[in-house]
Amino acid sequence: MNIDIGDIIKGEIIDFTHEGKGVMKVDGFPIFVEDALIGDVIKVKITQRKKSFALGTLESIEKPSIDRVEYKFDAEALGGGVPLIGYSYEKQLEWKRNKVIQDMHRIGGLDLPVNPVIGMGHPFRYRNHSQVPIGKLDGKAVTGYYKRKSSDIVPMEEDHLQPEIADSILKTVRYWIDKYKVSVYDRETKEGILRHIGIRTNENNESMVILVTTFSTLPYKFQLVHMLVKDCPGVISVYQNINPMDGKFTYGRQYIHLFGKETLTDYIGDLQFKISPDAFFQINRQQVGVLYGKARDYLQGSKEDIVYDLYSGIGTISLFVAGDVSRVIGIESVKAAVKNAEENAKLNSIENVEFHHGKAEELFPWMINRGMKANKIILDPPRKGCEKELLQAIIKLQPNRIVYVSCNPSTLARDLKILVEEGYSVKEVQPVDMFPHTVHVEMVVLMSRLEK
Ligand SMILES: C[S@@+](CC[C@H](N)C(=O)[O-])C[C@H]1O[C@@H](n2cnc3c(N)ncnc32)[C@H](O)[C@@H]1O
Repeated sequence: MNIDIGDIIKGEIIDFTHEGKGVMKVDGFPIFVEDALIGDVIKVKITQRKKSFALGTLESIEKPSIDRVEYKFDAEALGGGVPLIGYSYEKQLEWKRNKVIQDMHRIGGLDLPVNPVIGMGHPFRYRNHSQVPIGKLDGKAVTGYYKRKSSDIVPMEEDHLQPEIADSILKTVRYWIDKYKVSVYDRETKEGILRHIGIRTNENNESMVILVTTFSTLPYKFQLVHMLVKDCPGVISVYQNINPMDGKFTYGRQYIHLFGKETLTDYIGDLQFKISPDAFFQINRQQVGVLYGKARDYLQGSKEDIVYDLYSGIGTISLFVAGDVSRVIGIESVKAAVKNAEENAKLNSIENVEFHHGKAEELFPWMINRGMKANKIILDPPRKGCEKELLQAIIKLQPNRIVYVSCNPSTLARDLKILVEEGYSVKEVQPVDMFPHTVHVEMVVLMSRLEK
C-alpha cells in the first residue's frame, strides 16, 4: 500500500513505541501516532513519511479501546509525560512486561521468563520529586507541563501524580510571581530569570523547594521563602539553583541554600536517608521498598559476603542489605551523594559500609587490580547502563552472584548479553512499576555464575 503525506488512514492501534505513541500497521508498515491507545480504532492523518515508518496525527477515534479508562480529574492535562494514563492500569503492567521480554530477546538474544510486573494499589500521587516549568499566559504566572515539541506551558493547578503539598507550593509561587511581577524565563526570547520549581517531598509531607534561575539574582526571593513557610507548613528547606543552560537538564551545578534544613530526610522501611538537593533518590518511595526488598532477596546475603554496590547514590541499597552481609563497598560519581551516603550510614548506625567517590568504570577495576575481593555485586546504573570496562572487571573478579537493578530494558539486555557470554546465567527478572502511566519500567535481575 502506498502511504503519502496528507493521506487519512483507518486502522487499529496494536502497540506503543518506547515514547508511548500508538503503533498502527498497514500491510506491516508502521505508523506512529500520539494520543492513541492500544485497541483504539482511529483515523490518522499522515504528516511524515520515512523509509521504514510514518508519523501521523490523530484525526478521530472511530471506536475507543475497551481498555480506555475515565478519571474524575482532567487526566489529559497531565501531558505527554504520562502517555498511558488513559489505558487501564492492569493493561499497562501487561504491556510493560511484554516490553521487557521483547527487549531481552531483540537486544540481548535472551529468551527469559519474566515475572509479572509488581504494580501499585493506588497508582497516583506517587512522585516525590517534581520539576515544574514556569511561564506566563496572558500576563499571569502559570505552572504545568511543556506542550509537546513546544515552549508553551499547559497550565495545571492540580497534578494527581504529585503529593498535594506540591500543588499548594506551586499555587503560592504563582501568587508571588504575580504579586511582585517576578521575571519568568521565556524559552523563545531566552530572557527572564525564574525557570523551574523543583519540589522534593518526604513520607511525612515535608518539602524541599528548589527555585531554578538563569542567574543568581532573584529579586523578592526572601518574600517567597516567607510566604512558603507561612502558607505551606510542610516546607522545611528552600534552595536556589542556577542553570544558565537550555539543555535537557532542569538543574544546573550551583545551589544556594536560602532557608531551613540543608537536606530532606526520607524513609524506606526502617531506614532514614538524608537527601541533598542534587542527590538521586528513587521517585516512587512506596515502590522503592518493593524493589530494594527484591534486590535484598536476590542477594541472599550471609555474614561471609563482601558486596560491591556500584552506582551507590546516597547509599540506599547498600544500607538496605548491610545487615545481612559482612561488608558493603559503594562507588558513586556524585560527591555530594557519597557524603549523603556516609551520613546516612551514621544516621542508621550502620558500620560495615564504606563509600568511595569516583566513576565505577575507573575505580572498581582499579580496586580489583589491587587485589580487593568481593563475592557479590549490586549494579544500579543510570539509563545508559554499565560501561564495558566495568563489566570486564566484574568478569575478571568472578563474583558468584550479581543483582542488577535497571530502569532501561534495552541497556539492561545489552549488558546481560555480555555477562551471559562470559558464563553467567539469568535466574530471575522482576519488573517493578515505579512510574505508573509512563512507558518506563524498573527491573531487578538475579544472575549467578554457572559452575564449571
Ligand atoms: C539509578 S541511580 C542509583 C542510585 C542508588 N543505587 C539508589 O538506588 O538510590 C544511578 C547512580 O549512578 C550515579 N552514577 C552515574 N554515572 C556513574 C559512574 N560512571 N560511576 C559511578 N556512579 C555513577 C548517579 O549519580 C546515580 O547516583
